Amino acid sequence: MTEFQSAVFRWYRRSGRKLPWRGERDPYRILVSEVMLQQTQVSRVLEKYSAFLAQFPTVHSLARARRSHVIRMWRGMGYNNRAVRLHRLAHSVAHTSGGILPQTEKELMDLPGIGRYTARAIMSSAFALPVPVVDVNIQRFFSRVFWSMSTLTDMRPLRDVEAHALKQFPPRNGYEWNQALMDLGATVCTARTPQCDACPVASHCRSRTGMKRVAAIRKKSEPSFYGVPERIHRGHIIEHLRGLRNGHSLPLAQLGKAVLPHFSDRNMKWLRRILGQLERDGLVRVQDDGTTPRVRLA
Ligand code: ADE
Repeated sequence: MTEFQSAVFRWYRRSGRKLPWRGERDPYRILVSEVMLQQTQVSRVLEKYSAFLAQFPTVHSLARARRSHVIRMWRGMGYNNRAVRLHRLAHSVAHTSGGILPQTEKELMDLPGIGRYTARAIMSSAFALPVPVVDVNIQRFFSRVFWSMSTLTDMRPLRDVEAHALKQFPPRNGYEWNQALMDLGATVCTARTPQCDACPVASHCRSRTGMKRVAAIRKKSEPSFYGVPERIHRGHIIEHLRGLRNGHSLPLAQLGKAVLPHFSDRNMKWLRRILGQLERDGLVRVQDDGTTPRVRLA
């Protein structure tokens, strides 16, 4: 083992986080944690993970659940499309392979909503296969340690980092290695305020001195309505529909008033468009048969 590797392992034994999915070997439970962690902070996932699994303890129970129930259980995690994707994924696994998740990168990536990172995380965590994973935290950590980054926001392209991650990957304890790197990236080598004094590999780091702070990067502009991003409006709509009793629907005008303070008929076209997006994502269903169009969770 190299000095670099043993410094990382030593740090992990002392300072790694205790997380409920650490040491978990059930592929389904790993999958749920990884999909939740794709776009939601660990602290938020911690509040939701066990309740979700208590409700849907197996891939079959998730596959059998009503879509609206899964969307309800996703409350508080944001990016609700992931609830739909996870539900579809459960369907696909339950109906095509008897509930067994595949073990190869290619087969995992063929499932809806699984990219290379998630595929490898499942291979490493659930099947103990020796594959390096590179999420954005690890990408940042390796970029800084092995190349000289001039600013806090710089990173090497993912391909370069993945090639390097393969070279650094230890012959044994690959799972612990991957988890250790995730924790180092998330808690020590952070994006804005890296804690170099607490870093076990600071002496190996090519960026330790000299990374400049840069002005906050302006976020990509996104479509908004009355000054609020449409993404937020979509979240409010789903949140409001979650509050309805199971299977219940709401007239569109009533939903409009609930999510826009000054909603009027003039805004109906906008609401229809947003609901159209949510419907295409599989999150809501609009019932337009009678005189009063209504909407409910899908
Ligand atoms: N983010 C994604 N997977 C993770 C894991 N297993 N531990 C901590 N953070 C993560």
